[in-house]
Amino acid sequence: SRRLRAVDLARCKAEGRKIISLTAYHAHTASILDAYCDFILVGDSLGMVMHGMESTLPVTVEMMIVQAQAVMRGTNRALVVVDLPFGSYEASKEQAFLTASRVLKETGAGAIKMEGGAKFAETVAFLVERGVPVMGHIGLTPQSVNTMGGFRVQGHSAESEKALTADAVAISRAGAFAIVMEGIVEPVARTICRSPEVTALTIGIGATVECDGQILVLEDMLGLSDRAPKFVKSYGSLRAHIEEAVKGYADEVREGRFPAIEHTYPPRG
Ligand code: KIV
Ligand code: NA
Repeated sequence: SRRLRAVDLARCKAEGRKIISLTAYHAHTASILDAYCDFILVGDSLGMVMHGMESTLPVTVEMMIVQAQAVMRGTNRALVVVDLPFGSYEASKEQAFLTASRVLKETGAGAIKMEGGAKFAETVAFLVERGVPVMGHIGLTPQSVNTMGGFRVQGHSAESEKALTADAVAISRAGAFAIVMEGIVEPVARTICRSPEVTALTIGIGATVECDGQILVLEDMLGLSDRAPKFVKSYGSLRAHIEEAVKGYADEVREGRFPAIEHTYPPRG
C-alpha cells in the first residue's frame, strides 16, 4: 500500500470520515501511529517537548529534518507533514520555497506546514504552484508568542473573529490543502469550519469538534509532558508508567536482583 498524499486527505472528508492525526518526532512512536493516523505532523513543538525549550523559536531547519527523517523511517502509510520553523520562511516566498523544497528533498515527507494567515497567502500560492503541498496554521500560532504576548486563545473579539475568518479564507484560496486551527474560541472555530469559503480541510487543536479532523501533540495526550494546555485530553499516563519502571529498575539494581541469571550469557558448550 502506497503512502497517503496531501490530495488523498480530501477523500476522508468526501467519504464522511474524520481526519486523524498526531505529532511524532521519533521512528518508534511514529511506527505505532502509522496505522491509525491519516497524517503525522513532525511539529516544531519538538523544541519544547523533546528539548525543554521555552518556546518553538530556537528550533532549526536541521532539527526538523533529522526528526522528519526518523519519522519517515518508522512509517510507510501515513502522510508525513513537516513544520517550517521560525525564521525559515517568513522573509520572502523565495525563502519559503528554498526551505520547503530542502525539507521535502532531504526527508521524503509529503507536505510542509507554516504558521500564519492572510499575510502568507501569497507564499502559500507560490509554494503550491511549485509542487509543495502546504498546510496552514492559524489562531494561536506559537511562533508569534512574543507578539501575541504569550500563548493566547484567539477569537474573543469581533475584530479577532473577522481576522481569523479572513485568514482561513485567504489560505484556502491560496491553495493550502488543510489548515490547523489552534486555540480558537469554539463558536468562532465552528463558524469558520462551516464557512463555504473555507475549502481547505480544517484540523482542530483547541478549536471545535466540527473540524474535518483533529490533531494533538503525542506526548501531551500520552500524559508524558509535564504540563499540557486545557485542550489536551489525556489518553494515557506514560509519565507515571515510566517512573514506575525506572523505580523498579533502580530498586532491583540497588538490591542486586538485576541482572538475574537469565539476563546473562552462559559459557559455550
Ligand atoms: O508543532 C506542533 O506540534 C504543531 C501542532 C500543535 C499543530 O504545530
Ligand atoms: Na508547530
